[in-house]
This record gives sequence, C-alpha cells and structure tokens, in this order.
Amino acid sequence: MTQSDQDRERHKMNTASTKIKLTILVLIVVVLAFGGIVLILLSGRWLPRGPIAKNANELKIPPLLEDLNPDPETAEYELEAQYGRTNFIGSQQTPTFGYNGSYLGPVIRLTKGEAVKIRVRNQLDFATTIHWHGLVVDGDQDGGPHQGVAPGETWEPGFTVDQSAATLWYHPHIMGNTADQVYYGLAGLIYIDDEVSAKLNLPKDYGVNDIPLIVQDRSFKSNGHFDYRISMMGAEAGDTILINGTSDPYVNVQKGNVRFRILNASNFQNFEFKLSNLIDFQQIASDGGFLAAPVTRGSLFLAPGERAEVVVDFAAINSESVSLLLGRQEIMQINIAGEDQNLSEVPEALTRIKAIPEGDDPPIRMFNLESMGISGTINGKYYDMDRIDEEVNLNETEIWVVRNNGGMMQTNGHPFHVHVTQFQIISRNGKAPPLQEQGFKDTVYVGVGDEVRLRVRFTHPGIFMYHCHMLEHEDNGMMGQFRVS
Ligand code: C2O
Ligand code: CU
Ligand code: CU
Repeated sequence: MTQSDQDRERHKMNTASTKIKLTILVLIVVVLAFGGIVLILLSGRWLPRGPIAKNANELKIPPLLEDLNPDPETAEYELEAQYGRTNFIGSQQTPTFGYNGSYLGPVIRLTKGEAVKIRVRNQLDFATTIHWHGLVVDGDQDGGPHQGVAPGETWEPGFTVDQSAATLWYHPHIMGNTADQVYYGLAGLIYIDDEVSAKLNLPKDYGVNDIPLIVQDRSFKSNGHFDYRISMMGAEAGDTILINGTSDPYVNVQKGNVRFRILNASNFQNFEFKLSNLIDFQQIASDGGFLAAPVTRGSLFLAPGERAEVVVDFAAINSESVSLLLGRQEIMQINIAGEDQNLSEVPEALTRIKAIPEGDDPPIRMFNLESMGISGTINGKYYDMDRIDEEVNLNETEIWVVRNNGGMMQTNGHPFHVHVTQFQIISRNGKAPPLQEQGFKDTVYVGVGDEVRLRVRFTHPGIFMYHCHMLEHEDNGMMGQFRVS
C-alpha cells in the first residue's frame, strides 16, 4: 500500500466512525425527545386545569370526645371505627373511614393521673386496631398488631395517664393494612393536660386560639373517590393537601397569639411548613410535650408521625391574611380579624426537662434502617409478628443508636418511631441536636447517612413495636418488636 492509499483508507474509516457516532447521537436525541413526550402525556400535565376555587372551605375542627363518666378522676370514652362518605371537593362524596364520624376522629382530651377506659367498636368489615401513638401504657393496651379487633367486635383498653402534657395521636396498627386504613381516614388526636400546661398562660381555647392541624396528602379520582397510589417505590405524593379533612381551607383567627398543634398524618410524605412573608413563629412543644423554652423558627419540618406545637403572634402582623405554606404551595389561608386580644403569652420558660437518668454503663443497641422502594428492613430483618427482636429491662435506661446508611432505590430518610416511650435525642451525627429536638420525642427523622443516638427508658411491661413511620414501609417489613419485662 502506498502512503496515499493508507491515507485514503484511514480517511474512509474516520468518515465511517463519524457517521456511526452521528447516528447514535441522533438516535439518543430521538429516544430522549420521544421519552419526554410520553412522560408529559402520561403525567397529564398537558391537560387544561379547571379553575381551582381559592380557599373555599372553612377549616373543620374535630369535635372533642365526650367523657361519659362524671367522676373527674376517671374517664370513659367510646370510639367506633365506621364507614362514611365525606365531601372534600366540589359536591362529590368520597367513601371514607372514620371514628364516630365519616373521616378522622374526635380529639381525646386526657389529664395526667386520670384513669381511662375506652370502648372501641369495630363496625368495619375487616380487622383493625387502635394504637395510642406516644402514650405510655402496658403492651396489651397499646393497640399494636397483637390487639386486632375483628369486625363487629369490641376492645376495651384501660390505663392511667402517666406522662406530661403533650399532643399525641391514635391510628390503626393492623399487620399489613395500617397504611390504607389511615389513608381512608382512621386517625385522631389525643391531648394530655397536666399541672404545667394548666399553669402556663398559653392560648388554650380549643378551636379558637388553640387549633389542631392534621395535615395529610391525598389524591382523588374523577368520580371523587380517593386515588391511593402505591408503586414499587412507595406511596405517591398526593396532589391535594387536606387539613383536618378540609381541602383548600381557610381559618379565621383573632389578633393575638394563636397556638397550632400540627400533626403530619400523611402516610409517606415529609412536610416543611412556613408562613408567607417570612413570618417567624415560636415552637413550644415537640412530640412528647413542651420544650424547655420556646424556639423561634422560620420553618417547621415534620416527618410522618411527628407533631409540633407552635404559637404565632397575629397582633404583630401587619396584614389581613397570611398563608400557611408547604414549599411554595399555599395550603391554608389564615384571616386575621378583630381587636388585639393578646390575653395569652409565650412565657420565656415552659417546663423543666431533666435528662433521663442513665446508669454507668447503659446497654447500647444498634438499629440499621434500610429500605428498597416500598419495603424495608431493620437490622436486615423484615417484621415477623412471632419473633421478639429485642429483650429490654423494665426501668433501665438504654442508648439506642439509629442509623440510615441509605441503599438501592432509597432517596429519603426514615422517621423512626418507638412505642411506649418519650425518648431524648443525645446526638445527631455526633453533635448536639437542634433546640427543637432537645425535648421529648417518640419519632425521630433519620436522614440518609445520619446516625442519631437516643436515650430511652421503658416504664411499662409488654410487647411493643419500633418502626419506620412511613406507613407503607411499616406495612412492608420495616418494623421490629421488643419485650419489656
Ligand atoms: Cu404511630 Cu407504631 O405508630
Ligand atoms: Cu406508636
Ligand atoms: Cu421509611
């Protein structure tokens, strides 16, 4: 071959490889463009959106459950899990579940020291349970997976309230079906009052300046039925935010301090709340009760299961209305009216928080959280109702180290919840936790790569759960059992 032959040969090969490269490039572009179009079509984003009514509905306030026993030292309550139809959107009726009503349940208001009896009747066609999330009671009163209530049956737990003032909640905890039962409406709040909450001059006029906010994401089908969408990845975020079962709510408040008790009662979604116009608020309580002192905050993160109490001073706001936001989305309009009624205050000190006493050499337990899409494990194990994972001594303080190393198909952190205790967070990734996490908690968010250390102590015997509070994770293995004795 001559020199020029070789050149020609090389040139031919170069042109050929350029052609191949070009073809591949064009193919990639075509596939990407086509994929994009398919995705847009599938997402329905090209559809014209109907006019959305702006803050059409007054915020529903759940009723307070009536104590049927006149004796002030004892309380007797009745709860009935039942079917209902609820109007959320337009004039449509959505088939739902509720306690003593069509959707959600009443607020159960308890006082520290009082003896409580609750009659739980199951009017549904399937088994359910009621778990008192955050309440410190014996194992057989806890309402976990072992206390199933068959259709038509009644369950009668009893206990004495043995903990500080707090905002807790109740919801089903039946093996494998907690997520859908909660999605359809089974959840409600528990308030505990004590001598500290009685003494503090905080807003406490229920539904007026002490307002519960049960926040949930939901999706609806065109016929008004819930569209509960789960996939291999977990539960899809709903496109509608309900507060106390109200879509597109507004609430009227008076000028002055207003307290909101906020519960993230969604199945799978984290929420970060803000007020419009960068308005600050004071966080006064976390899951287990008051913080030592109010913490001034500009936003509030709550993972599923977590609660917080905040106070907003509407007398200090120079506007007729303020929006509660999730990111940039307005989820509630707050209308401010009337005279400055600041009869309450946010005291500089709320309560005294003592460290849970620890022995010299407290037992340390590790909990590794790992999820893969909708399912997950703790310490590599899927939940088994017939297996006790941890044996714990009554009244002995332990250190629980909870780790989330991430994993395949995992993008989020996990809210780790422990039954029958209000624990203290010793550290988050080796550092002291932020002020709002220095009170008592029963659910702690553990982000990817995070390690939290908890100081826990169990004062009641029985079999209890610890689990991820993303309900689809809980239903699909991310739960374990411990026995306190
Ligand atoms: Cu909110 Cu095991 O529960
Ligand atoms: Cu719980
Ligand atoms: Cu999880």
